[in-house]
Amino acid sequence: MAGAPAEEPIGEADLEDAVAPAAPALETDKLPDAPDRPAPPMVLPRVVAIANQKGGVGKTTTTVNLGAALAELGFRVLIVDLDPQGNASSGLGIVSRDVERSVYDVLLADVPLEDVVESTSLKNLFVAPATIDLAGAEIELVPAMSREMRLRRAIDAVRPDYDLVIIDCPPSLGLLTVNGLAAADDVIVPVQCEYYALEGVAALWRNIGLIQTNLNPGLDLRGIVLTMYDARTKLADRVIAEVRDYFGEKVYETVIPRTVRLSEAPSHGQSIITFDSTSRGAQAYRDLAKEVSRGATRQPG
Ligand SMILES: Nc1ncnc2c1ncn2[C@@H]1O[C@H](COP(=O)(O)OP(=O)(O)OP(=O)(O)O)[C@@H](O)[C@H]1O
Ligand SMILES: [Mg+2]
Repeated sequence: MAGAPAEEPIGEADLEDAVAPAAPALETDKLPDAPDRPAPPMVLPRVVAIANQKGGVGKTTTTVNLGAALAELGFRVLIVDLDPQGNASSGLGIVSRDVERSVYDVLLADVPLEDVVESTSLKNLFVAPATIDLAGAEIELVPAMSREMRLRRAIDAVRPDYDLVIIDCPPSLGLLTVNGLAAADDVIVPVQCEYYALEGVAALWRNIGLIQTNLNPGLDLRGIVLTMYDARTKLADRVIAEVRDYFGEKVYETVIPRTVRLSEAPSHGQSIITFDSTSRGAQAYRDLAKEVSRGATRQPG
């Protein structure tokens, strides 16, 4: 085959160019007007829900590592695992078979939240764990009294004990997520740097609006965090540009890179802050923690 041109291996980016449609990466015209102003500095204590009903966009990774980075900055942080998958709990070293009481008992048996809280390997970081039985709560809560406000009441009782309570919501818009949003002062929405990035964000918007009207008038969209950025793909930059164009200053400057270390840390039961403290992922979540807490003040009293 002398003389045949050497074949260049096809890179991921080339493939993407070949299959990516010419149209804009996001169909923002289908979304309601975005709130595009930056949120004012936090007044602590603050309850923040990490939500996006789209699966696998980095909610849990952001909850655990943002929480750990905030704890490293000296804030007292409680992570509430509201997902029956229990990924935030296991990612912080909690072994589910050792959990006696969990968020399920808080929601359905009126067990005080402080009774289920466990410490982690980071001094200022605590977790209220979830186990698979929480899946039943979605149905068992339906006939319950004030079923949407159960988490809010439980968190209200521990609020003075923490600077930040961060709630890891499941990938759905069911009663668990409603409890998370009803309990929160703010929502942070992780958006993955990929083609269908904003798919479902319109539905999340509507739900946030419903919660504001019916359950929690104080709920605010605090920010959008772009996750799993891969510099090798041209599409990712386009998605970032369009998300920034649409959401303006609501989008954090920090973009979380896609790194193997971030995906490995949970299987060691550790946040990236302790698992690989100098890695790019750790640095990114530290930067995000600084942005999120910039200018934060404590409520007097
Ligand atoms: N920045 C990243 N770099 C590499 N892998 C990542 C990154 N962020 C998340 N992942 C991996 O992607 C997967 C999905 O992330 P994660 O569990 O945080 O998403 P999620 O939104 O919480 O998912 P679910 O909707 O199922 O709760 C996980 O395997 C996680 O380890
Ligand atoms: Mg998750």
